[in-house]
Amino acid sequence: MTPKPTIFKELPADIDQNRLPKHVAVIMDGNGRWAKHRGLPRMMGHRRGVDALKDLLRCCSDWGIPALTAYAFSTENWGRPLEEVNFLMMLFERVLRRELEEMIQENVKIRFVGDLMALPASLQAEIERSMAVTANNQGTCFTVATNYGGRQEILQACQAIALQVQQGLLEPDAIDETLFAKHLYTANLTDPDLLIRTSGEMRISNFLLWQLAYAEFYITETLWPDFNRAEFHRALSAYQKRDRRFGKV
Ligand code: FPP
Repeated sequence: MTPKPTIFKELPADIDQNRLPKHVAVIMDGNGRWAKHRGLPRMMGHRRGVDALKDLLRCCSDWGIPALTAYAFSTENWGRPLEEVNFLMMLFERVLRRELEEMIQENVKIRFVGDLMALPASLQAEIERSMAVTANNQGTCFTVATNYGGRQEILQACQAIALQVQQGLLEPDAIDETLFAKHLYTANLTDPDLLIRTSGEMRISNFLLWQLAYAEFYITETLWPDFNRAEFHRALSAYQKRDRRFGKV
């Protein structure tokens, strides 16, 4: 049995509360490898991945980080074996149903971004319900990217804007970054300050291509199911050592 990690409820003393990221994004990679190393089916890795995500969400709320966005399923993930795709869809739905009550109590505002219409109808219904009942919550804003692709998000924003131009509702000159960002799935959400990717891969994998323009990247060799508060603490320490210049000197 894996020993239970220690839960640090308080923000670690060496982390400056005033310089915390306002929005953390995470690419949860390595579930399959985690399971393989233990001789378990890949699905077990995804199950443990849910536990790691739950703890990170709670940690953001404990430590005062207002927004967390997790990459749960990419537009490319449909190419996985059907059994795994079906398992993931079932897992998302079951987790939502099981965890919703607790998220309401913890004041979490949950949002899903991506092409949600392509998801199974029962999952879409659960997603709609969870977004509706938490819409007015003021706690951590938890965004789950599901059937999400950054290029596809940018293209659908272009199409929506082009339509407005075609209809004479918008002048091309009026298209600026602010207007463009309003047409992305993440409208109303500040851009991530910190992107964490587990399992050592140094790729962005079509995640939040527009929004990550100035994010600091933290890559760890840890596989996602093993990502815990101690690791998040290390990510925040690294983040606070960075000199964020946003292209200036
Ligand atoms: C990547 O590991 C992980 C995924 C594609 C799925 C992540 C999903 C969860 C942790 C569940 C989240 C649940 C909710 C409700 C938000 P991988 O399979 O690519 O691992 P590998 O690279 O080692 O094969």
